[in-house]
Amino acid sequence: MQRVRKAVFPVAGLGTRFLPATKASPKEMLPIVDKPLIQYAVEEAMEAGITDMIFISSRTKRTVEDHFDKAYELETELAARGKDRDLELVQSIRPAGINFIYIRQAEALGLGHAVLCAQPVIGNEPFAVILADDLIDGSPAAMKQMVDQYEYYQCSVLGVQQVAPSETASYGIVDASPMADRVSRVNAIVEKPKPEDAPSNLGVVGRYILTPRIFHHIQHLKPGAGGELQLTDAIAALLKEQQVLAYDFDGTRYDCGSKLGYLQATVEYALKHSEVSEDFAAYLKKHVC
Ligand code: UTP
Repeated sequence: MQRVRKAVFPVAGLGTRFLPATKASPKEMLPIVDKPLIQYAVEEAMEAGITDMIFISSRTKRTVEDHFDKAYELETELAARGKDRDLELVQSIRPAGINFIYIRQAEALGLGHAVLCAQPVIGNEPFAVILADDLIDGSPAAMKQMVDQYEYYQCSVLGVQQVAPSETASYGIVDASPMADRVSRVNAIVEKPKPEDAPSNLGVVGRYILTPRIFHHIQHLKPGAGGELQLTDAIAALLKEQQVLAYDFDGTRYDCGSKLGYLQATVEYALKHSEVSEDFAAYLKKHVC
């Protein structure tokens, strides 16, 4: 059995819902309390046993590369000032044994295209895709739960959750037949259907484990609206020849690509944060009716 060792993190999107914050910085660098979204995503991948982190970035968004790079000046300065805890915190961002790999997507031609950019590094093995703006608070981590399913069934696995019927037009929606606890077999997948056309309320939310056969299907896609290649369309083609599962993971998901989801995540994570939780709870009590 091939293990899932590599994860793709597409961070080259335009992030229009978060402009102007995303003009020069990827939305994945937005912090939830004190940690950028992309770091939560990488930590989730590490918990799942993944060692190769592949970022699909763009020329205006170098901060992700800098975040996972060694910070010589800062580290020397922290060491000189005896700030050992801060130094440890900064160094823990890039643990030993974890590889950080960067690929440029020259044009934002869609999520499918972003994933295709990783093909030379992925080769012929299964891999994860994590959209860091979907922040998932799960224990075990959502990707760990999915890797367990992959190891059992050895086929592509899509992370799904029930979405509000009125919101189907924001997701890839699956038509799926239940197979086991939280696991269903995907019969069809539709990108952003209107509520009346949606085959179910199960939406794909930013977590995928895909077999390398997906690259073949992305390569054969016809560009859709705005010249974009949709990963959902490639998955629709994949499931005609391979089993694809939907896994309803256990965890709370925050859509941090939207302002409301981002604010909800900030409040929930602040209320759990060891440094600020008590003061923040007191603040909320005082100011929120
Ligand atoms: P989104 O659909 O959320 O698009 O992309 P977006 O452009 O980032 O955000 P909005 O809707 O304009 O606010 C899903 C994920 O795919 C990445 C994005 O960075 C995000 O993580 N992506 C999308 C790419 O890396 N390249 C693309 O060409 C498109």
